[in-house]
Amino acid sequence: MGVIFVTGGAGFIGSAFVRLVLDERSGIEIVDLDALTYAGNLENLAGVDGSRHTFIKGDICDRDTVMGAVPEEADAIFNFAAESHVDRSIYSADEFLRTNILGTQVLLDAARAKKVKRFVQVSTDEVMGSLPDDSDEYFTEDSALKPNSPYAASKAAAEFCVRAARKTHGLDTVVTRCGNNYGPRQFPEKLIPLMIANAASDEPLPVYGDGMNVRDWIYVDDHCRGIWLAYERGRSGEIYNIGARNEMHNIDVVRAILDALNKPHSLVKFIEDRPGHDRRYAIDPTRSETELGWNPKVKWEDGLTATIRWYQENQAWVEHVRTGEYREYYKGMYDARLAASEPRS
Ligand code: NAD
Ligand code: DAU
Repeated sequence: MGVIFVTGGAGFIGSAFVRLVLDERSGIEIVDLDALTYAGNLENLAGVDGSRHTFIKGDICDRDTVMGAVPEEADAIFNFAAESHVDRSIYSADEFLRTNILGTQVLLDAARAKKVKRFVQVSTDEVMGSLPDDSDEYFTEDSALKPNSPYAASKAAAEFCVRAARKTHGLDTVVTRCGNNYGPRQFPEKLIPLMIANAASDEPLPVYGDGMNVRDWIYVDDHCRGIWLAYERGRSGEIYNIGARNEMHNIDVVRAILDALNKPHSLVKFIEDRPGHDRRYAIDPTRSETELGWNPKVKWEDGLTATIRWYQENQAWVEHVRTGEYREYYKGMYDARLAASEPRS
């Protein structure tokens, strides 16, 4: 039985990864460390096989906790734990720098101390900044790092820490960079679950700016399969872009959700833009396709239908996460902007 150490396994992508590995790799045991921040939720792990999954509540920045939790000679560390929401990083960056940079360094140190065989850093296309509208430029693994938000800057810095651990200490590392994920259990601060939740309760759908920003959407399980293949087949020290060649304007995503729920487009409200809002992300995944043999399996239409169905069937999950802290966050982020929004066709 092999053992892997996963951080952030109670979050959106981390929990999907835990489920996928437990379902598809019978010889793997998982130790899962998560601080259970506002975005971490044990309900995301409901029903997973407890005989091969050990959950530890703890902070990746806490050196003693991490050293105590990482198994000796584990097969790999998969670092999902992060502060992940761009809007929150704009209003307060400290926690992003702490968790995303310092936390990654603590994990790298633990990987060396515990002789972990491979370190997989789950990174993002946002480290490469923004692409021009309607161009045929794509992010490749050689694109320059030009992060534009505090979140993206912290993830870029984390990548440099990973690079340094390999160059200086010889740690075996792999970095994956993915675009916008969607699927079940995503916290409703992110575009798709926020729009599904608001549309379902006939609340306005707040679209930033002109709604013409482009994101490259991928179903979460396809991302998780890519991460696993990068671990299994990736070359040491390499970066692998993971993307489903699925660029869409935000407004088209939002309208697709309204159509699926049979709700009027008049629920859309164009509101004041996000400061520094990246215009376009688009990933060239050729290296993952050719070297890893990775290909996305889930088509956008099917993935969106499955995602909407999940939220409809899991109202209790939605209600639990849309209380307390979320209400305060939503008020601060949206109320004034929605009140100031101009009607528009
Ligand atoms: P998420 O916000 O849903 O989950 C993050 C998890 O990390 C939560 O369970 C949280 O409790 C945990 N966490 C936060 N700080 C921690 C700390 N100090 N110690 C331990 N645990 C902590 O995020 P997500 O969307 O699942 O993203 C997971 C990873 O994937 C992140 O590293 C993110 O940068 C990366 N990523 C996300 C996307 C996306 O579209 N969501 C795309 C590419 C890459
Ligand atoms: O590209 C990968 C990144 O995708 C990940 O690294 C991040 O962790 C993840 O949060 C995501 O970042 P984005 O900023 O692209 O995702 P978000 O869901 O916040 O926004 C998607 C687009 O929708 C973006 O152009 C902003 C816009 N938006 C978002 C919200 C929450 C709106 O128009 N209205 C909204 O209310």
